[in-house]
This record gives sequence, structure tokens and C-alpha cells, in this order.
Amino acid sequence: MTVSEIVVPQVVPLDERLWVPQTQAISFRPLCLNVSAGYWVNALRVRKNGIISRHRHPNAVHGYVLKGRWHYLEHDWVAQEGAYVFEPPGEVHTLVVPDDVEEMITLFQVNGAMQYLDAQGNLTGYDDVFTKIALCRAHFEAVGLGADFVQQFVR
Ligand SMILES: [Fe+2]
Repeated sequence: MTVSEIVVPQVVPLDERLWVPQTQAISFRPLCLNVSAGYWVNALRVRKNGIISRHRHPNAVHGYVLKGRWHYLEHDWVAQEGAYVFEPPGEVHTLVVPDDVEEMITLFQVNGAMQYLDAQGNLTGYDDVFTKIALCRAHFEAVGLGADFVQQFVR
């Protein structure tokens, strides 16, 4: 048995309700929430002065910058619009969107989990495909699409 395909005509949606808030400055648009293989694909949007707190990836991450630019505090390169980024397993970083970028959107495939760390490297929280689905369910319910709206992205 195979699972069915997912086709999302517009990765950057016209309907604002499809953006799921993660923090005040950060939201994500789910594309594939793969519970059978333990990864997720999403468009990540960061608006004005956004910082994604220091975290570790136990598995690989692939990114493609759709709009704006960003960098990691821990590296000296900048991910520009159109760039592809591979983050190796074990990578620890803090994502920063500079002041002069109004909006950044990057497509990320995140395998396994994001483990959030404090300055001493202690684990303070995590995200995985299941926490992402829970955020989607709560948000889609709140904006009137219904919690099960997320099911079309789950495999
Ligand atoms: Fe990351």
C-alpha cells in the first residue's frame, strides 16, 4: 500500500489563516507532516527582528530561501533569497533575520526534531512532527478551518 501524494499549488499562501503562529514573530505553513517517517516540510516565515532561539538538530535539515535573507549567529555565511542550505546532524545554531528584512520565508525540511537549548546547552524544549501537528490543529480550529484541516498534510 502506498500513501497518497500532496500537491500544494501555492507554497506561500494567499490566505493568511494558513500561517500557523509559533511565536509572535515566527509562523509556519505546513506542507507535509510525515508521522510515519518522522519529519516535516514547512514554509517558515519570520517578520521583522525575528530570532529563532538556539537549537540543535539531531538529524539533517534542508532549506531553500524563498524570500528575504537570514544567518546563523554561529556561522559567518548569509542565506540569501534563492539559496539552498544543508544543516548536518548535530548542528547547533540560532537563526537571525536582520533588521532591514521585513519578511523572510524559507522552505525547510526538518528531520526528527528541533531541540531548544539555553546558553549553557541545557535542553529547554523541543519540536517534532507531533508538536507541529498539535500547533496546526489548535490554530486551524481557532481560525475557523477546523482542527482536521491539518489532516491533508499528514502522511
Ligand atoms: Fe535550525
